[in-house]
Amino acid sequence: MVTMPWTAVVSLAFMVYSVSADTPANCTYEDIRGTWIFEVGASNNNRTIDCSKPFNASKILTLQLKYPDIAIDFFNNNGYWSLIYNQGFEVIVAGRKYFGFSYYKGKTSFCHQVFGGWSHDVLGHDWACFNGKKSETVVKQNNLLTDKIFRIGPKVNSEDMVASINKAQKFWTAKRYSQFENLDEEDLLKMSGGRRSQIFSRPKPAPLTTEQKRVRESLPESFDWRYINGVSFVSPVRDQGGCGSCYAFASMAMAEARVKIQTNNTQNPVFSTQDIVECSHYSQGCDGGFPYLVAGKYAEDYGLVLEKCNPYKGKDGKCQTQQNCERHYFTGYSYIGGFYGGCNEVLMQQAIYSRGPIAVSFMVYKDFLQYKNGVYVHTGDDIGVNRFDPFVITNHVVLVVGWGQLSPEEGGTKYWVVKNSWGTNWGIDGYFWIRRGTDECGIESIAAESTPIFKYAK
Ligand SMILES: *[C@@H]1O[C@H](CO)[C@@H](O)[C@H](O)[C@H]1NC(C)=O
Ligand SMILES: *[C@@H]1O[C@H](CO)[C@@H](O)[C@H](O)[C@H]1NC(C)=O
Ligand SMILES: *[C@@H]1O[C@H](CO)[C@@H](O)[C@H](O)[C@H]1NC(C)=O
Ligand SMILES: *[C@@H]1O[C@H](CO)[C@@H](O)[C@H](O)[C@H]1NC(C)=O
Repeated sequence: MVTMPWTAVVSLAFMVYSVSADTPANCTYEDIRGTWIFEVGASNNNRTIDCSKPFNASKILTLQLKYPDIAIDFFNNNGYWSLIYNQGFEVIVAGRKYFGFSYYKGKTSFCHQVFGGWSHDVLGHDWACFNGKKSETVVKQNNLLTDKIFRIGPKVNSEDMVASINKAQKFWTAKRYSQFENLDEEDLLKMSGGRRSQIFSRPKPAPLTTEQKRVRESLPESFDWRYINGVSFVSPVRDQGGCGSCYAFASMAMAEARVKIQTNNTQNPVFSTQDIVECSHYSQGCDGGFPYLVAGKYAEDYGLVLEKCNPYKGKDGKCQTQQNCERHYFTGYSYIGGFYGGCNEVLMQQAIYSRGPIAVSFMVYKDFLQYKNGVYVHTGDDIGVNRFDPFVITNHVVLVVGWGQLSPEEGGTKYWVVKNSWGTNWGIDGYFWIRRGTDECGIESIAAESTPIFKYAK
């Protein structure tokens, strides 16, 4: 995406599994942390700057990226940085932001390089392109591109599959879905994807501080933005179809809920997910993306448009958004906890309670597709459903709107209340519950949020 179209650089063998990919880059925190040199091109006030073309560097900047999220420039100005999953990183220092995807070619990640990154001042006035180079070379091969997911054990949506899930555990109930009957496994993979994920590239939730333990005591036992004194602040459930655009749906769902909360439900926008799929350079269309870069960075830099400006088609294409449409801006985007790796249950609850729903990612195993109701807990290896190679687990992006806890008689399990984007016929009217406080399927590892900039109603 950064320097060449993604389809142009993948081999055929890789292509087959690329349906649920972001970019193939696979860079860890340690790969990125260290000393960087940024070569920055000429700047101007044009935010549609095209950084995929070569440019001549006119300024050089040296930066230290340190643990856990400290960025220090050559003049000793202190700022922040965050890794963005395994895909790239953003730095904010001395009033400027720098974001770029890590460079890759075929199956090789060049984690010490960023080509065609975007830099602009924090107010978005002055834009430039940059290339980044780390002091040490970090070249890695993506080694595990096998395709075992969804292929081992009973077939998705079969009687066998549903029966073995329901027999193996009592947390939740599985069922067959008629809407899945005509889909092949590639479609299902796409639907539950947006990325290939490696279990160890996710950070563990940050440990609770004493202060956070105190905060936990002050939070209600259950909370749901759909039921606040009889009023819902969550927009209707949508259906992403067979495009890996879950990240766009979760991002727009967060944006919609937060506008409703900010305006006490006097504004009820539905934002265009197709605009994200077709027009955002910060994500990969039907191949995936991240709420941090979409509800966050894209919404701050370019703004969101309403659904009618580019209705959902569920496929990639060139940007068709009506150019005269008003744009809705967001700001203050961040990972919950401040950076990737800083998240935990209490910080998520606090964010939801005080600011609104948050976008999260988690790993979809094939048992999840069959979810009907109850508290989802991954069924595990022992029933032969999920003997997966953890390297090929996909990630799905959804919106957490609240939390609850079962009664002691029902087992007392704590859970998150989550809005999915597979239509209202799936799960509990389009929603599901998933175990809370145990980082079930990684759901407490990469939560993100942003804040709407108030816009007067027309
Ligand atoms: C901004 O840059 C884009 C792409 O580089 C170009 O097409 C457009 O004309 C520029 N707009 C202005 C106002 O200079
Ligand atoms: C870079 O600078 C050289 C020498 O001044 C010039 O010939 C070339 O066209 C420039 N390239 C770009 C992409 O601006
Ligand atoms: C991604 O990186 C992690 C950590 O370095 C590694 O364990 C994993 O195998 C890599 N994934 C792929 C697909 O190469
Ligand atoms: C918010 O809207 C409700 C109606 O849904 C109304 O009763 C309440 O007074 C409003 N609150 C404010 C602060 O306007």
